[in-house]
Amino acid sequence: MTEIKTKILGTGIYLPKKVVTNLDLEKVIDTSDQWIFERTGIRARRICSTEGGEWPTDMAMHASWKALETARLQPNDIDMIIFASVTPDQKLPNSASLLQQKLGITNNCACMDIAVACSGFVYGVNMANSFIKTGMAKNVLVVGSEMLSREVDWNDRTICILFGDGCGVGIVGRSEEGDESQILSTHLGSDGSGKEFFNQPVGGAVEPITETHIKEGTHFMRMKGKEMFKVATRTLADNAKIVLERAGMTLDQVDWVVPHQANIRIIETTANLIGISMDKVIVNIENYGNTSAATVPIAFHEAIESGKIKRGDVVILDAFGAGLTFGATLLRY
Ligand code: ACO
Repeated sequence: MTEIKTKILGTGIYLPKKVVTNLDLEKVIDTSDQWIFERTGIRARRICSTEGGEWPTDMAMHASWKALETARLQPNDIDMIIFASVTPDQKLPNSASLLQQKLGITNNCACMDIAVACSGFVYGVNMANSFIKTGMAKNVLVVGSEMLSREVDWNDRTICILFGDGCGVGIVGRSEEGDESQILSTHLGSDGSGKEFFNQPVGGAVEPITETHIKEGTHFMRMKGKEMFKVATRTLADNAKIVLERAGMTLDQVDWVVPHQANIRIIETTANLIGISMDKVIVNIENYGNTSAATVPIAFHEAIESGKIKRGDVVILDAFGAGLTFGATLLRY
C-alpha cells in the first residue's frame, strides 16, 4: 500500500476590527508604549466586538471561507474539524460543531475541540496529519481562534498588555503523487510540572466562579512571566531540533521558522538557540500581541500572502503554551 502523504491545502485568517494600541492602554492603566514595546515587541492588538459577529466561531467561519477558497474545496469536502481554543464560544456544544453549522457543512463530519493553549494550532495540524495518514479523514479543517480579551484582567498591567484576539485556520489534506509539498515530520508533548506557570484555576469544576472571585478579579488568567520566558525559549529551540532530526534534515535546509508569537525577546532568544538568522523567522507580534492558538496560523498565513513563504519552501511551525504543552511541524509548503 502506498503511504498517504499530507500537506497544507489552504490557510485563512480573521482579525477583529477594533485595534487597541499601547497608547490607548496608557490612558487606562499605569504603563507606557515604550515599556511594552521594549519588553515585548508589541505595539497593538485586536479586540473582538462584544456586540456579536466576532465570537471565536464567527472569526473561524470567515477565516475558513478564505482557506476553502485557496484550497479550492467546498464546505462539504471537509470531513473533520479540529478547533483549538481556550476561549470557546460556550462550554457546550463544542466550537467545532458550532462552526460546522456556520459553514453549512451537512456531512456530519467529526468535530472536536482541543484545549492546548498556544500550541493548539500545531497540535491540530499534527493530529490532522495522523488522521489523514491512517485514512480516517481526507480534508481536515484546523482552527486556532481566541477571544482572550474576555479572560485577561484589564486592571493588571503585567498581563493585559500581552494578549489579543484573532483567528487563523489551515486545511490539511492529501499530497498527491509527485507533489513535493508535504508535512515532513511532527512533534508533540507536554510537561505538566509547569502547570503553575500559566493557568486559570477558577471557573472549572473544582472551583466555579463566585461573586467573591469576580469582586477580587481572581477568575482571570495568571502567569509567571519570568518562568514562562525561560522555559519557552528552551522548549521552542528543542522542538525545532527534534522535527529536523526526525526528518533527517539540517538547519541549512530550512527557509522559515514560524514561532508562537508571545514576546519578541522569546522569539529572538529562540532563534539564537536554534542558530537561525532572524531574517528567516516570521514575526508579526507588533500588530497583534499574543493570540494564543491563533498566533502561528495568522503569522503563517500573512507570510504566505505577502509572498515571503512560497510553495516548496521548508517551514517549521513551532509552539509552546500553558500546560506546558509544546509541538512543532516541519513541512515543505
Ligand atoms: N507597564 C509598566 N510597568 C510594568 C508593566 C507595564 N505593563 N508591567 C510590569 N511593570 C513593572 C513591574 O511592576 C516592575 O516594577 P518594579 O521593578 O517597580 O517592581 C517592573 O515593571 C519590572 O517587572 P518585571 O515583571 O520584572 O518585568 P519583566 O522585564 O520580566 O517583563 C514580561 C515582564 C514582559 C511579562 C516578561 O516577563 C515576559 O515577557 N515574560 C514572558 C511572558 C510571555 O510572553 N509568556 C508567554 C505567554 S504564555 C504563552 O504564550 C504560552
